[in-house]
Amino acid sequence: MKDIKELDHQYITGTYNRFPVTITWGSNDIAYDENGKKYIDLESGYGTNSFGFCDSDWINAVEEQLHKVQHTSNLYYTEPCVKLAELLARRTGMTNMFFTNSGGEANECALKAARRYQHLHKGPDCYEIISMKNSFHGRSYGALSATGNPHYHEGFEPLVPGFKYAEFNDSESVESLVDANRTAAIIVECVQGEGGVNVMTQEFADALTKLCREKDILLICDEVQAGNGRTGTLYSYEQLGLRPDIVTTAKGIGGGLPIGICMFNEKTKNALVPGTHGTTFGGNPVACAGALSIVERLNDGFLDSVKRKSAIVFEAFRDAPGVAAVEGLGLMIAITPASKKASDIVNECLENGVLCITAGPAGEKVRLLPPLTVTEEHLKQALKVLLRAFAE
Ligand SMILES: Cc1ncc(COP(=O)(O)O)c(C=O)c1O
Repeated sequence: MKDIKELDHQYITGTYNRFPVTITWGSNDIAYDENGKKYIDLESGYGTNSFGFCDSDWINAVEEQLHKVQHTSNLYYTEPCVKLAELLARRTGMTNMFFTNSGGEANECALKAARRYQHLHKGPDCYEIISMKNSFHGRSYGALSATGNPHYHEGFEPLVPGFKYAEFNDSESVESLVDANRTAAIIVECVQGEGGVNVMTQEFADALTKLCREKDILLICDEVQAGNGRTGTLYSYEQLGLRPDIVTTAKGIGGGLPIGICMFNEKTKNALVPGTHGTTFGGNPVACAGALSIVERLNDGFLDSVKRKSAIVFEAFRDAPGVAAVEGLGLMIAITPASKKASDIVNECLENGVLCITAGPAGEKVRLLPPLTVTEEHLKQALKVLLRAFAE
């Protein structure tokens, strides 16, 4: 039989530049490759394995559900999605959830719901959506059109009409694009992930709140990457005092199974009614049972541990040789090298047994998204490898 990498190149669509490593198994923050080489994982599948590889409580929840019902159509009630929705409502104050299978689809749902809400309230001309430059919201056409980075648009135009792009953290830029009769919603990441781990300023958050209230514009927070404990609170918008009308999330809430959620508040909860939206797999009981076991454990003590480990990383990189800047929130962190290429640092780390990735429009930063359960011991070991790679 051919090598897995050769077969991958032969049979898998070539959209991914993979590292030359096949991950064969893992346990919490440790991954092993096909040769038994060990890696400390500071990537967690783009922040998806929030409780690491093969977390036993998550496995038990998933397995238990697998022995009951693996799937039904949305024509029938099932328990796990309802329990998860109820828990999220209790924890966030949002009132109603639509389940999807990915972050992109959660954003599709949010964009459709925002347009439909405003169609009903302000009329059919109120369909424009403002998103931020450098944002990332997904690859399907609506989410791609909301994504404020021309690199992802190239070759796929024409995009969905009605999207405008403002400068992130620049309220005047947003204001200049607003038309109270035409602007349906503003969609933001409080910490731009793919865009380079750029954290929203309090000033910008306050300006968005004021603008949305005064002009009756819906605020959508994309918490696909920054949500579910990643930044040290359940959702990152909490830290900025934002009160979104719609919240989207995915990645880490599933603990490694595909799930996305679009959450609505009291105002927007009736934007979608029977027949206006749907998905075959959304609300899948197995994915929801796994997600429930994750959210149930994102309590204050756990979130404090995320903040503590975040402080260890910030402290390690502050004034370190070869480091120009360190930024981020919680365990969503980007480090800008002073002169080295970020991709070279990532490759050196891989060579030396640490998994990390790049971030930013030109991949100019090294990004860390460890499992939230990374042990302090492994984190410190990995930081030594990273610091050496930055300094050399
Ligand atoms: C902020 C944000 N939104 C949406 C998406 C798209 O999510 P998915 O790849 O699950 O469709 C991503 C993925 O990286 C993301 O980071």
